[in-house]
Order: sequence, then structure tokens, then C-alpha cells
Amino acid sequence: MIEEVNSIFSFIQDPVLLVDVDGKIHNMSHRVSRFFNKIRNVLIGGPITEIISDSDWVRVKNMKKQQDLKVSVKLETGDQKEYLAMVKPLVSNGEIASFLINVTPIMDSKKKVHEQRVLYTFNDVKGISDSIQNVVDIAKRIAPSNTTVLLRGESGTGKEIFAQAIHRESHRKDGPFIALNCAAIPESLLESELFGHVKGAFTGSSADKPGRFELANEGTIFLDEIGDLPLPLQSKLLRVVQERKIERVGDTKSTPVNVRIITATHRNLEKLVANGQFREDLYYRLNVIPITIPPLRERREDIPILIDYYMKKFSEEFFRSPKRISEDAFELLLSNLWPGNIRELQNVVNHFVQLEIGDLVTIESLPNYLKHVNETERRVEKEAAINEKYSMKSSNRINEKEIIIDLLDQYGRDTIGKKRVASHLNISLPTLYRRISKFKIK
Ligand SMILES: Nc1ncnc2c1ncn2[C@@H]1O[C@H](COP(=O)(O)OP(=O)(O)OP(=O)(O)O)[C@@H](O)[C@H]1O
Ligand SMILES: [Mg+2]
Repeated sequence: MIEEVNSIFSFIQDPVLLVDVDGKIHNMSHRVSRFFNKIRNVLIGGPITEIISDSDWVRVKNMKKQQDLKVSVKLETGDQKEYLAMVKPLVSNGEIASFLINVTPIMDSKKKVHEQRVLYTFNDVKGISDSIQNVVDIAKRIAPSNTTVLLRGESGTGKEIFAQAIHRESHRKDGPFIALNCAAIPESLLESELFGHVKGAFTGSSADKPGRFELANEGTIFLDEIGDLPLPLQSKLLRVVQERKIERVGDTKSTPVNVRIITATHRNLEKLVANGQFREDLYYRLNVIPITIPPLRERREDIPILIDYYMKKFSEEFFRSPKRISEDAFELLLSNLWPGNIRELQNVVNHFVQLEIGDLVTIESLPNYLKHVNETERRVEKEAAINEKYSMKSSNRINEKEIIIDLLDQYGRDTIGKKRVASHLNISLPTLYRRISKFKIK
């Protein structure tokens, strides 16, 4: 029996504790020790009041039925933090003999709400680079109006954050924000998702159903991956954009809708238009205010800020104290090309917050793929560096540092300036950043 219980605990993914009526911890899932950064074998056999406060334990002890409870947890740092504890008293021989306690961070439950209802605002857009600040400025300026916006940018650059933030800063903020990813829904269902259908319009349509446009009435509709909208639906969307009226599938009458349209894509719409895959007239209707979010590799000054931000966020979430990052790991993070942009950076930070046991993040603690990518990158750059040395030599100037300073003075020290310096020297932007830090250029 004991073995069975133990194997259950090694199987449970949540932070769950089994505590007897005297408050002794009998068993717990591995997640608990990771959660609280405490050693499992030390906690087992010890008092639950090592984790929760004495008064919270008294409240747990008095529970007669399953209940949720806010408890404050003692953190390693000496701070107290509130968590949600789901408590289930276990009865043996007609009496409560022990309690199962499942602890979850309150932030986690909030996050779920966040995903459903609470939308991002411009405060959630982190970054100090001129390029991201410019984009935020433009977005803030156009937010209050009803104009149609097209958000462009690579995957993971923050298109969804911007769409929500624009809605939150518009006069429609109390109205609905309805999102639909055109690439995620099978073509056969997309039309009815967008425009709704009437009963009997097709097999399985047993009742009338409003589409996303109707649901977004008085608010904003966010059509993500608009470049993936099939051509027949593009024509239908064009009509809605022009007339602001929708027709449910199978219906003959049209209903007026009052929606602001925000679309997004990571694809090159102009190319799609040129190839006949995207309607040109729709393109012009949607591309009223284009906002392009720059990729992370073009605003490297934001990388440390984002690492810091997510380090704090995830450390809190996983009950860890924030870690330091070794110089070479930091350099690797700075020079990474981040093809998955901020989403990728989030994953990497999450990886080392959860998996690195010590308080120093080294290259070893980074995900393997990052090391490999960078090996290739570094090799390419090494070759480039050799060529570059020759070109520097041939120009008969020995002091590389001086050349770079001169060029920075000439082109400016913002990202655009640095890009120009890099292209002047015929080196990549990451290489330039590495030189700048190597020579400690201010
Ligand atoms: N400037 C930023 N500051 C902080 N977090 C950000 C920022 N930009 C994006 N993120 C975060 O990165 C993740 C990806 O952002 P988002 O989903 O908005 O990107 P996307 O452009 O819609 O990507 P995709 O094309 O893959 O759908 C989200 O978790 C978001 O919170
Ligand atoms: Mg998105």
C-alpha cells in the first residue's frame, strides 16, 4: 500500500502534499521541492509549518470537507507569499486521518483569467529600444480611432499583445475583443466561425449560431494570420469590410455590425498579392495603418531587459530566487538571432529558471539547440571576422576600436546607426555588438 502511494506521488505533476492530523508531512510530489526550492527528503517527516504559516495550518486542520484556502508560504528569502491551497481531508475509520494539499500560485490562476478576459495593455510591452518605442508610439496614437490596423512582424514579436493593447486604449475598450486565428481553423469551418450560420445551413448545424463578427459587435475583431485566409473567404471578408454587414451561412438577410478590424500576419502580403494568393483590393482595405513590430535581433538592447523581466516573472511563479547569468552565457544570449523572437526568449528563460539548480546560469544551463545554433553561427562569423580583418588591414588602419568609434559617431549609436556601421564594415550586427562590448565602447 505504502509503495503504491509513493508511486502515485512520483507520478503527480502538481505540487501536492500528504499531511497527517498532527501536521507531519508524510509524502509529497517532487514538484513541491522544486516549487519551494527545498530538499524533499528534508521536508518529508518534518512539520507542514515549514512551508505554511502556523495559523494557516490551524485552518487546514479544522477543515471537514474539501475546500480551497489562501495560505501564506514562507519563502527561502524570508518573504511570505500567498498561494491557493486546495485541501482534501482523507477519512480513515470514520475519522479524518490526513489531508491532501495541492498548492498553486495565485498568479497561475490569475493567468488563466488573464488569458480569457484580461487583455494586455501597452504596459506589458517591455523594451527600451527606439524601434519598439516608436512602434508603441504609433500604436498608441492610432488606438483611439476606429481605423483598421494591420500588424506585421515575425512570429513571437508581440502582434497579439499589440492588438489587445490597441483595443484596451480605444473607445471600444468596454466592448468585446474577439480573436480568431485564420490559420488554426480548417477551411470548411472558417466561414461559419467568422460569419455564423443558421439552423440547417449544413449537416450538423442544428441551431443558429452567431459568428465572430457578430460577437465582436461594438468591439474589436482580431483576425490573426490573415495571410492564410482562403481566397473565397477573402471575397466575403472584403464585402464585410466594405459594407459592415454580415450574412450568416445559409441566411439571405444581412445584419449590420459595428466592429473595428485589426489583422495580423507574419507573411509577406505583397508577395501573396503578386502571386495571386491574396486579393489586392482586400489588401488595401486592411493595410490602412500598417504597424511593423521589429524582430528581437534588430533591437538587441531589449534582450537584457526581457531576460530580466521574464527571470523575475518565472522565478516568482516557480518560487525560485532570480539567478545570475555568467558572462559567456549572457553573451551567447545577446548574440543569438532569436528566430522565434520574444516567445523563444521566454522559453529559454523558463528553461533555466526551472532546470538550473544553482544560482548561476552558465552556457551549460541553456537549451542544447541554442548552443548548436550558436556554434554554426560562430563559425560563420569567425570566417567573416577573418575576411573582415583583411579588409580592415587593407584599408591600412590598425586600430579597429577607433574605426568603430568613428563610424558610430558618424552614423549614431541607435540601432539604425549601428546597423549602418555594421554594413559599412561588412560585418553582421551581432559581430558589431560583440566588438562594442569587447572594446568597451560607450
Ligand atoms: N515587448 C514585449 N514585452 C514582453 N513580452 C512580450 C513582448 N512582446 C511579446 N511578448 C510576449 O511574447 C509572447 C509572444 O507574443 P505574441 O503572441 O503577441 O506574438 P505574435 O507576434 O502574435 O506571435 P505569432 O506570430 O507566433 O502568433 C507572448 O507571451 C507575449 O506576452
Ligand atoms: Mg499571434
